[in-house]
Amino acid sequence: MEKFIIKGGRRLEGEVVISGAKNAAVAIIPAVILSDEPCVLENVPNISDVSISLRILFEMGADVKYIGKNTVRIDATGIKEPIVPYEMARHMRASYYFLGSLLGKYKCARVALPGGCYLGDRPIDQHLKAFTALGAACAIDRGMVDAQAEMLLGSQIYFDIVSVGATINAMLASVKASGLTIIENAAKEPHIVDLANFLNSMGADIMGAGTDVIKVRGVKKLKGTTYAIIPDQIEAGTYMVAAAATKGNVLIKNVIPKHLESITNKLEKIGVNVEEFDDSVRVSVDGPLVKTSIKTMPHPGFPTDMQPQISTLLTLAEGTSIITEDIFDNRFRYVDELRRMGADIKVDGHVAIIEGVGQLMGAPVTAPDLRAGAALVIAGLAAHGVTEIDDIYHIERGYEDIEEKLRALGADIVKKNIPGAAVRKAL
Ligand code: UD1
Repeated sequence: MEKFIIKGGRRLEGEVVISGAKNAAVAIIPAVILSDEPCVLENVPNISDVSISLRILFEMGADVKYIGKNTVRIDATGIKEPIVPYEMARHMRASYYFLGSLLGKYKCARVALPGGCYLGDRPIDQHLKAFTALGAACAIDRGMVDAQAEMLLGSQIYFDIVSVGATINAMLASVKASGLTIIENAAKEPHIVDLANFLNSMGADIMGAGTDVIKVRGVKKLKGTTYAIIPDQIEAGTYMVAAAATKGNVLIKNVIPKHLESITNKLEKIGVNVEEFDDSVRVSVDGPLVKTSIKTMPHPGFPTDMQPQISTLLTLAEGTSIITEDIFDNRFRYVDELRRMGADIKVDGHVAIIEGVGQLMGAPVTAPDLRAGAALVIAGLAAHGVTEIDDIYHIERGYEDIEEKLRALGADIVKKNIPGAAVRKAL
């Protein structure tokens, strides 16, 4: 078992370079299946969710080669069977993108129901609604989703709720369908635009990504491409909050400031200085941190994936802050851990009420999921004393080189292997 040991209380100072976006990478890697030629992906983050996606491709018969630290060449033309077994899918929620891409390419897919962070009930009814609208027959059989179609026909798909995953799967499945698909009430997250740009660079005809209506005109063939994945909005936001929580001064490089607007706005309300440049932001604190209210929403609202981190910052702010989690049912699992560090937080259903305590104290804690784990790292960096974080494999699913990056900013963080215990590694 591996843990992070953090001696808190050091201001973060210096520069950090943000990696490629996890949520874009885990959509774009399966999308390579749709290409009739090899593709090269650049700015691929070195995280376990990416290793799993690449491993799934490899196991299906694709040729996958790293040609640089963050550059991968994938030739998915040799895929033999469009099947992703449970052993592969259980590690990662985004394994459901193989459904859309395999169905789009081979008109049939069999993928185990996905695993990933437990954030409450996470149905896939809207994904299946999209596949069905395109003409596929979908069934769930012994934990596997089966989708098959004689042919995929462009269609109108109206989502009942805004879903990132369903929007991406609808794009993947319709990109080679005959005719026009109109996806309404689509999600608008940056990685949806990134996937559309990637598919268009292979010759797809997708318009409107980033708005709530996406139009996909099916094409017969998709060619190879070389494509650089966008920087990670949530990794950038996490370092922004870490800088603020330690009253530091950090230049966060390789970001798209527009993607960070909702995070920047809230940090400024809390009393944090955020200076924007073309592809970087500087975060510093020179006054008191103050309460605010936050409600998570689909993009361009405040991202649910930043809720645990900013809530942690608010435990250090003056006054009472109110957090409303409107996307997932079970996204306050870090609260018990923060309470062990001295936070004063009450949870009532989807709402958390945070009374600022000014200072957290180090304690042994356990990362319940990816972003909650990142929040505990921030808490440990800001706290007095030593924090030991267990189950850090969650954190490594989504943050490239997190200890090295934090150490370069002056943090005292080490990864400790506990000899004799099972090492939980995601492939
Ligand atoms: C994606 C992100 C995740 C982020 C989330 C919300 C990836 C790989 N993951 O997850 O990091 O936290 O968006 O921004 O990009 N829902 C249904 N039926 C469906 C699909 C979703 O009811 O068929 C519900 C979910 O339970 C949830 C809400 O819709 O309450 C939004 O979920 P969705 O946007 O689909 O999240 P994911 O794609 O799973």
